[in-house]
Amino acid sequence: MESTRVLLEAHEIPTHWYNIAADLPSPPAPPLLPDGAPAGPGQLGAIFPPAIIEQEMSLERWIEIPREVREIFRLWRPSPLVRAVRLEAALDTPAKIFFKYEGVSPAGSHKPNSAVPQAYYNRAAGIRRLTTETGAGQWGSSLALAGQMFGLEVRVYMVKVSYGQKPYRRLMMQTWGAEVFASPSAHTGSGRKTLAEHPGTPGSLGIAISEAVEEAAGRADTNYALGSVLNHVVMHQSIIGLEAKKQFDKIGLYPDIVIAPCGGGSSFGGLAFPFLGDKAAGDRRAANLRAVAVEPCSCPSLTKGSYTYDYGDASGFTPLIKMYTLGHDFVPAGIHAGGLRYHGVSQYVSQLYHAGLIEAVAAPQLATFDAGVRFARAEGIIPAPEACHAIRAAMDEALKCRETGEEKVILFNLTGHGHFDMSSFEGYFSGRLEDHEHPEEEVARALARLPKFA
Ligand SMILES: Cc1ncc(COP(=O)(O)O)c(C=O)c1O
Repeated sequence: MESTRVLLEAHEIPTHWYNIAADLPSPPAPPLLPDGAPAGPGQLGAIFPPAIIEQEMSLERWIEIPREVREIFRLWRPSPLVRAVRLEAALDTPAKIFFKYEGVSPAGSHKPNSAVPQAYYNRAAGIRRLTTETGAGQWGSSLALAGQMFGLEVRVYMVKVSYGQKPYRRLMMQTWGAEVFASPSAHTGSGRKTLAEHPGTPGSLGIAISEAVEEAAGRADTNYALGSVLNHVVMHQSIIGLEAKKQFDKIGLYPDIVIAPCGGGSSFGGLAFPFLGDKAAGDRRAANLRAVAVEPCSCPSLTKGSYTYDYGDASGFTPLIKMYTLGHDFVPAGIHAGGLRYHGVSQYVSQLYHAGLIEAVAAPQLATFDAGVRFARAEGIIPAPEACHAIRAAMDEALKCRETGEEKVILFNLTGHGHFDMSSFEGYFSGRLEDHEHPEEEVARALARLPKFA
């Protein structure tokens, strides 16, 4: 009997992250201050430690992963690469479907891949407390875990709609010692302002980021940690694609298509960028590689957004980043894939999309749950709603192969399990879940409010 899992040993954990900034088709656009001047390390120093700022701006292709970080990673890494043979059979497809399973981390997703190094660098810089935001609760629980490992206090602003939907995520964060508030909250000026203007708001990642950044900027012992979007976060996630490449080498295959869900873009960049690095280096195996980012129809930053400078948060506290965005104060519908409800996308993901080097598709909510349930029934693993977006696109590609007879190798990022998302599945089974279309007029209004730069 052939194994369906490709495993690596602890000593095969990559020693360096891959930074795609070295291989972009043109130099990355600098982050800007509200007056249009480039944001430098000085401004970022109020909320980030020096090592993170250096990584954020770095054009080095390879950056070493500290030994202390790899020692924590070996608790669950390397993560398995799995061939979904039972899904292939259920779809009756000649395609070979693989997934990289990031749900094996203690927090249940890929997010600790960046939480651990961020906690490490903050601790090394003498910081005692971290603030952050969380949507679905995946990032907040990952930072709670990482903070605990390095002796840091963690305070999490959790998007209100998820706070209500996911009480066990909150308890998980508390178990790892973090404090959790529903956002918008009365603890910050930006939270109080939002509550006064929009009392019934479900919250958004942009609002929660404003609260966490405001608190960190106001306290010398406190820094801020972001779970996606920024360059250093996407780079930390490259460990996913780097491991996957080693695993494919072991079985003598190479993917034709790599697919990941796309919220802020860290799991997409994390999986796809090391393969795109091969392509940039002229590796013939990667010549026709397709990389597909999958976003929800209700928050279609890449497929319906504008490529322009925008803030990373709702209140305009962060520097402006050149990215695909729906407008920083756009509040998406309260869909169940909370981690995908973000108005913008990583700068490098945006740049590559703009250059036509990667693809994006938007998937309706019900179709993603349908795919997730089919996957769970074939492969056993119950996926996180965010991951269901990648499964949907992988299944659609596999079904195309059934029509054409092509034996394509499809790799997708199974970014997390859905054990804390069962209320979403309940909504799906009971027929309460709906498809939300992209509210064109609302997005147009949010885009009209954007600051105007080059
Ligand atoms: C399981 C899971 N997958 C994907 C995402 C999307 O984030 P990103 O685009 O940064 O990978 C999230 C975000 O919370 C998540 O929890």
